[in-house]
Formats: sequence, C-alpha cells, structure tokens
Amino acid sequence: MGKSQKLYEKAKRLIPGGTQLLSKRPEMFLPGLWPAYYEEAKGCTVRDLDGKRYIDMSHMGVGSCILGYADKDVNKAVNATVDAGNMSTLNAPEEIELAEVLTKIHPWAKMARYARTGGESMAIAVRIARAYTGKDIVLFCGYHGWSDWYLSSNLSDDRSLDGHLLPGLEPKGVPRQLKGTAIPFNYNDTKGFLKLAGQYKGRIAAVVTEPIRNVYPKKGFLETLRSETRKQKIPLIIDEITAGWRLCCGGAHKLFGIEPDLAVFAKAMSNGFPMAAVIGRREVMDIAQETFISSTYWTDRIGPVSALATITKLRKCHVTEHLETVGKKIQEGWRRLASEHGIRIEISGIYPLGHFSFKHKEPLALKTLYTQLMLQKGFLATNAFYASYAHKGEHVDGYLQAAGEAFRAIAIAIESGKPAKYLKGPVCHSDFKRLA
Ligand SMILES: Cc1ncc(COP(=O)(O)O)c(C=O)c1O
Repeated sequence: MGKSQKLYEKAKRLIPGGTQLLSKRPEMFLPGLWPAYYEEAKGCTVRDLDGKRYIDMSHMGVGSCILGYADKDVNKAVNATVDAGNMSTLNAPEEIELAEVLTKIHPWAKMARYARTGGESMAIAVRIARAYTGKDIVLFCGYHGWSDWYLSSNLSDDRSLDGHLLPGLEPKGVPRQLKGTAIPFNYNDTKGFLKLAGQYKGRIAAVVTEPIRNVYPKKGFLETLRSETRKQKIPLIIDEITAGWRLCCGGAHKLFGIEPDLAVFAKAMSNGFPMAAVIGRREVMDIAQETFISSTYWTDRIGPVSALATITKLRKCHVTEHLETVGKKIQEGWRRLASEHGIRIEISGIYPLGHFSFKHKEPLALKTLYTQLMLQKGFLATNAFYASYAHKGEHVDGYLQAAGEAFRAIAIAIESGKPAKYLKGPVCHSDFKRLA
C-alpha cells in the first residue's frame, strides 16, 4: 500500500463516501490500488503522493480540464486575480464581460446568471423554468447532477434513472412529495417524448436534455423537443455541462441548429476552476428576479476570470479541432487493437469523449483489469478517454502502445474464462453504492 491508498482508508473514516464526487472514488477504477490522491497535475501528467508519475488518459478531472491541468494562460489570469483580490464587498466586473462573450457566442441568449458547479446551475435553471411557467413537472433525459429535483425521479421507480449515465442513484432524503415531478425519457426516443408531452400537457415546467452524449441526435429528435416545447410554451433547457466547448466554441446545440430557452455550462468552461453559467432568453431569465437565487461564492472573481481566459484560449488554439483529432485516433486505436487481439468491444461517444465496453463475460472484471495493467505501465486509464489540448501525439502513441500490450493480456484472461483471477484486488464498482 502506498501513501495514497493509506490516506484513502483514513478518508473513508472521516468523509462519508470517501470523496465529494462519485466518479473520483478509487472503487470506480481499481479498488485498493488506484492512486487516489495527487501532489501535482500539469498538462496531462499527474504525480501521486509517492512521487509516481502517470499520464492521465482517463477523465482529465472528470471533464473539467479541456486545456490540460494547470494551463499556464488560465493560471496566469487566475494568479493575477489572487494578487488583486478574489473577493470584495463590490462585484467582479468580469461577470459582465463574460455575459457579453457568452451571449455573443449564443446570440439567441440575452442574459446570464452564474453559479460554480454543474448540479447547482441545473437546479437554478429548473427553478427559473418552474417560476416562469408556474408549473412543477420536468421531463428530462440524461444526467443532471445531485439535486432534489433530479433525484426525485427515482422516488417513483428506482429504475427510472437506468439509461441516464449513472444508474442506481439513491433518492433517500428527497421529499416524497416530489414524487412524480421529474419524468425521464430516453435520448433519441421522439415517440416516447411526445407521449409524455401529451400525457402531462398543461403541467410541464421544463424539458431538459443534453444536446448529445454517446450518440448523435437522430434527425427530428431535438427538433421535436424544440417544436413541442414552443407549442406548449415550455422552456427547453439544454445541459451543456459536459458536451459544451468540445465540438464547437460554445454549446453543442449550435451544431444542431437548436435554439433553446436556457442553456447551462460548467466544467470545461473554466478549465479546472469552479464556474458555471445559466444563459437564456430575456423573458425567461428575467424571472430569476422573482425567485430567490443567491449565494456568496457565486460572486468570486476567479470564476469569470478563469472562464474568460479559457474561452480565449479555446478560440485562439482551435482546441475543438485538436480534441476531435486526438479522440478519433484513440477510438480508431481501440478498434484496431481489439480486432488484432480478437477482443469484442463496443465503442461509443463523440470523439472528444470516447469510451468502450467489453462484450465478453464479466465485463467489469475486464475493465478493472485494463485499468490495473495500464497503471503498471504509467497511465491513469479506464474504458473512457476525455481528450484535452494537453494530449499530444507522443501521449497518444505511448498510450496505444501500452493499450496493445494490455489487450494482449486481456485476451488471455478472456480465454481463461476467469478474468477476475488476474486482478490484484476487487472488481470496480459500476454505480452508486454504500462504502464499507
Ligand atoms: C450533463 C451533466 N449535467 C450535470 C452534471 C453535474 O455537474 P457537477 O458534477 O459539476 O455538479 C454533470 C456532471 O458530470 C453532467 O455531465
């Protein structure tokens, strides 16, 4: 056991669940062996508490660091803000500059409000929509964070979040009175959506979806969401928290020609510093003045400063093109290596956010084994790759070389019929669970 693993054992006694984010739990990668803590993260290199260095070919801070860790241009702007004072009784002028930038990139939107995390900004958007319509019911598709409005969908049927990225989320503590207020539909299921829109007509406060996640929208899906919400005068909320800034400068909805009423950004927008924005049409956004939405640290200056520096660099360096090139090479590499070693995998996701799953018996054991083998070769890796500007050709080549060797060993494990026996610890978790 290294320092990181020991520290995580202590963390579990002091912090319920060990970490603040499910996707950062070592159990989601390699229970007992994952280097849970870092001392330094720069570019795509991470150094753990034992001084070991890894190339991060996994989530890059769960999608937050699109430019790479500790990006020097973003850090420069943030450091200047630290020196000038991050907080004051007065407001940060950069809030207005950022609102101008965001509304220029998305001309359908005329106003912006800010928060600091994805989940809370989605809660703000849903509150605004409920205040605007005076209705309660939210039809949604995809994952949108930890808050009550979203988890309440699991009060009705604990399988209702299946197929929405993080299955099995427990709604304990969410008021039972919210049961039936958040109703899921599946991405690309136009008929299913229309059925719900008809069934709940007159009671719907908002329709919420990601613009894209694993697959491209089928023709007519997003268009139907837009036309039906317009017809029923319901705000359409597009959650760009993960998809945004990766396929084009701004929200992915721009690519699909959809103009929502509200769009929500977080994560990649500020490259590792907390920042989130809800942008929208004036008529809808204005209602934010009639419901109490207010928090002290939503006013810190680093938030808008880091977002402005990130967006400037995304544009200057043509980052989306880079993400596409790198992500495509990785997905093509997985496909080629799997076929060379006779392994069946299914690849999905847009190029900047790719992942694969093993189509053999005990897929979770195989996923854990992949992480174990890649860690030994100096890579933080799982069955997903989030591309960043810091991933250059040498990282891709080194990773694919190592992945080829890992796939060779995995083919042997599959052949044996008992892949778990190749693991040095337990199989990884796939969803939310109580930790011992
Ligand atoms: C689409 C989407 N919405 C909301 C969230 C929640 O964001 P946060 O973890 O910043 O609260 C996420 C996080 O993964 C997400 O992918």
